[in-house]
Amino acid sequence: MTEFQADSEPLLRLAAIGALLLGLAACATPRPDMQAGANLQPTRGNTTVGKVSFAQTGNTLKVTGEVSGLRPNSEHGFHVHEKGDCSSGDGMSTGGHFNPGGAAHGQYGHGAHHVGDLPSLKADDKGVARIDFESTSLTLKDGPTSIVGKGLIVHKDPDDFKTQPTGNSGARLACGVIRLP
Ligand code: CU
Ligand code: ZN
Repeated sequence: MTEFQADSEPLLRLAAIGALLLGLAACATPRPDMQAGANLQPTRGNTTVGKVSFAQTGNTLKVTGEVSGLRPNSEHGFHVHEKGDCSSGDGMSTGGHFNPGGAAHGQYGHGAHHVGDLPSLKADDKGVARIDFESTSLTLKDGPTSIVGKGLIVHKDPDDFKTQPTGNSGARLACGVIRLP
């Protein structure tokens, strides 16, 4: 055995371990089955904008994104609405909350609520809200609870989770459509 071969053996072993670890990391973060996105554009007279990404893996939908141009430290109702139509300019053309199950309006993660009732947006001191949650009630897959082609609305006021069927969260600051790539 030459000196070179003797020296290179531990290196080869390290490379093999490295490849194994990379393989394990890839298994731990599977690629989503489906992805979609929504571009939130300001409604007439407003400046709120945002980008939201949806990644479906099995029955779990991961929702991530950022909304900016909000009042600092404010809270805002945030919903999927039944129509993917922002053409009215005030967000009203998206209709009411997406509610395929005929449920009452309520709070995400707390008892009965519309499928479209999402966790409220909470802006930081710069007026930026970050979105990061997972849901098994929303889906991108074909079927009655699919949110593909639906509207996405940021409201001016907090959602009270009680007023039917809207949560009384006021005017619509930004509107988007949830689209496949
Ligand atoms: Cu809404
Ligand atoms: Zn609702």
